[in-house]
Amino acid sequence: MMEHAQLIERIRAFLETYQADLSYCHGADHVRRVAKLGVKVGTQEGADCQIVETAALLHDIGNVPLGWSKLALGRDENDFLDFLALYVLPSTDHGELGALIAERFLERLGYSNEERQHVKRIISEHTKGTE
Ligand SMILES: [Fe+2]
Ligand SMILES: [Fe+2]
Repeated sequence: MMEHAQLIERIRAFLETYQADLSYCHGADHVRRVAKLGVKVGTQEGADCQIVETAALLHDIGNVPLGWSKLALGRDENDFLDFLALYVLPSTDHGELGALIAERFLERLGYSNEERQHVKRIISEHTKGTE
């Protein structure tokens, strides 16, 4: 498993690649603000900041416009994009969709099952107003 800083760097690079030519409802600035605030609050609360930062960076990954999978075809992350294409159209909840996308991506980065489930839960619940 890579170090925390390396993992976060990979996630940021991934987001930059996919956000660069796409117009998110919630864009890169929003994601950066949420991650910064999340780490600040997480530190105060004694949370696992790697989980918090990961979930914050990826929390809106499911908030993609229709057609993203088409635009992104041909990029390096082919497995991921196949997966995305399967779920983008039928999804109505970007928290649920984002959790599925994040799980796939984080598995490839070497996050443990427990870590992935934790991140997934945070992402899927951010659209539900529970807890
Ligand atoms: Fe969101
Ligand atoms: Fe958001």
